[in-house]
Amino acid sequence: MRLDKYLSERLGIPRGESRKLAAKGRVTVNGVLTKKADTQIEEATAEVAVDGRPLAGAYQKYVYLMLNKPEGVVSAAQDKRDTTVVDLVKDAFPRRQLFPAGRLDKTSTGFVLLTDDGTLAHDILAPGRHVPKQYLVTLDTPLTNAMRVGFAAGVTLADGQTLAPAEVAPAGADPCVVRVTLHQGVYHQIKRMFGVFDAGVNALHREVIGPVALDAALVPGQWRELTAEEVNALRAAAKPKN
Ligand code: URA
Repeated sequence: MRLDKYLSERLGIPRGESRKLAAKGRVTVNGVLTKKADTQIEEATAEVAVDGRPLAGAYQKYVYLMLNKPEGVVSAAQDKRDTTVVDLVKDAFPRRQLFPAGRLDKTSTGFVLLTDDGTLAHDILAPGRHVPKQYLVTLDTPLTNAMRVGFAAGVTLADGQTLAPAEVAPAGADPCVVRVTLHQGVYHQIKRMFGVFDAGVNALHREVIGPVALDAALVPGQWRELTAEEVNALRAAAKPKN
């Protein structure tokens, strides 16, 4: 990759700025002062420094973020009226076309995966891959045995659609607070599943996607990059199954 492109992507600055940085003699590649913007560098291994400070991390082909979505924010890349999950991170990644891999309702909170890796997003969301997602749900009525049995068998929604088996269990001492694990993603799925049992959902928080749990240190609106281990674990979980 050209040095100016690398600098622009790593620093989130225009190409012209990158060229100026290099021309002013502020950039070294593998310890060698490099003024030419068209210098080809090996992006996976090059040690690039600006003003003697190494750029953090290696060049990344894709970005993977875990966001703790706050209530009232919509799971979309852009929206005319509401703040979107991408609005919350885009200042840090001005050149990336990030989008949410899977949606949470506007009123729901918790783990939204943001990426520009369309292949992984597709694999996570593909109906056949069954990457499980876990939610903490507050109901307006206690959990019943009928709900448990119904979820395990596969709930038939009001529109006649029968869903894949899912799990529901108490999350603690409060019988209205439960953990639900889904293996598919249907619009308003959890609310509609409990609706079949005349139960309403007061709060819904996604805690886990496949092998990756939302970092407890992230308060609503905060995000962090996934670690390489987390990305690899997600890839393995979303791999096509034979
Ligand atoms: N099910 C719902 O009803 N809402 C969500 O946001 C996620 C799952």
